[in-house]
Amino acid sequence: MKQPDKHPAMIVHERQPFNAEPPLARLRQSFLTPEELFFSRNHGSIPDVDPDGYRLSVGGLVDGSLELSMEDLRERPKSEVTAVVECAGNRRDGLMGVAPIRGETPWGAGAIGNARWAGVPLREVLLEAGVGEGARHAAFVGLDEVEGADGSFNYGGSLPLEKALSPEMLLAYEMNGEPLPREHGFPLRVVAPGYIGARSVKWLSGITLQDAPSDNHYQAREYKLFSPSATEETADLSEGMMLGELQVNAAICEPEDGARLTAGPVSVRGYAIAGGGRRVERVDVSTDGGRVWSQTDLREGTDVPWAWSFWEATLELGPGEHRIVVRALDSSATTQPATAAEVWNFKGYANNSWHGVKVTAR
Ligand code: MTE
Repeated sequence: MKQPDKHPAMIVHERQPFNAEPPLARLRQSFLTPEELFFSRNHGSIPDVDPDGYRLSVGGLVDGSLELSMEDLRERPKSEVTAVVECAGNRRDGLMGVAPIRGETPWGAGAIGNARWAGVPLREVLLEAGVGEGARHAAFVGLDEVEGADGSFNYGGSLPLEKALSPEMLLAYEMNGEPLPREHGFPLRVVAPGYIGARSVKWLSGITLQDAPSDNHYQAREYKLFSPSATEETADLSEGMMLGELQVNAAICEPEDGARLTAGPVSVRGYAIAGGGRRVERVDVSTDGGRVWSQTDLREGTDVPWAWSFWEATLELGPGEHRIVVRALDSSATTQPATAAEVWNFKGYANNSWHGVKVTAR
């Protein structure tokens, strides 16, 4: 089977389905994440789609259904958005450090990337079909086949109609100025800025407007948040909160965890994102467990809606062991919880507790 074209430094969690993330120092090297370093999250096999035979169907509660070829889509107005895609499982490793999480990928803080996406605004296509009476959700389905307990099915998910009609929503056929790579959804994917990555459905084959969220396994039973007391054995998967908007979050990309450094000034760098389409206002770092914080310098991204922000600080580290932690604050003054224990859940989603690295200076 053809493997995705990724950088040899990628941390491959699984080959089939392919799940990989970049080392954090490399992730922090460029504001737009190059394809070869962009994390890849797949639930099934990566399909090879023939762009000539490809058709997107739009139906359900619409005035008139549509069947669009790639040529049809390219003829429509083209729009761009620079946006983060972040997996709801990003930083699951921190939750796994609190208590075991079974059967899930142990993502570090690299299940996130920031790219310039281009394509047709989803809104254009939905308005062309005509939003019908009673439509409340836009459901998406992909061409990839996922093996389930009762046979194989196509991956899918949905968004509230209000989000689907927002101007930032794209049906993307380009990533960083190039045709969408195969493993990122060629020839067409949804890009849902500000929402968990699971809703940015790749290899998109159909859009259905409906009165309820998608009943696809990945909307109805996965990517849901349960209380810390729920367990794999006790939880009813049809319950739980469907995850949607991303939360404020931040990670230290350099120095790496476990690094040995020379005592003196040390440069600390990372990324931060805001929740709910807000802006990153401030990013702080601490070396004493959060008693004293120093404010970092915000670099690229703070003025780019839906993108991440890069930050940087120089810390004076004396000889010895240090734990450096980071927290971001967004424009609603919302900040992050201190510990992973506070946000632990048995599926391991939505870890936005302070991110930290342990380093030794001599
Ligand atoms: N779309 C399809 N068709 N199949 C998938 O497995 N994975 C989702 C989403 N879209 C997925 C999908 C998840 S969980 C995430 S986090 C993002 O794609 C990851 O996008 P990427 O692989 O381009 O980084």
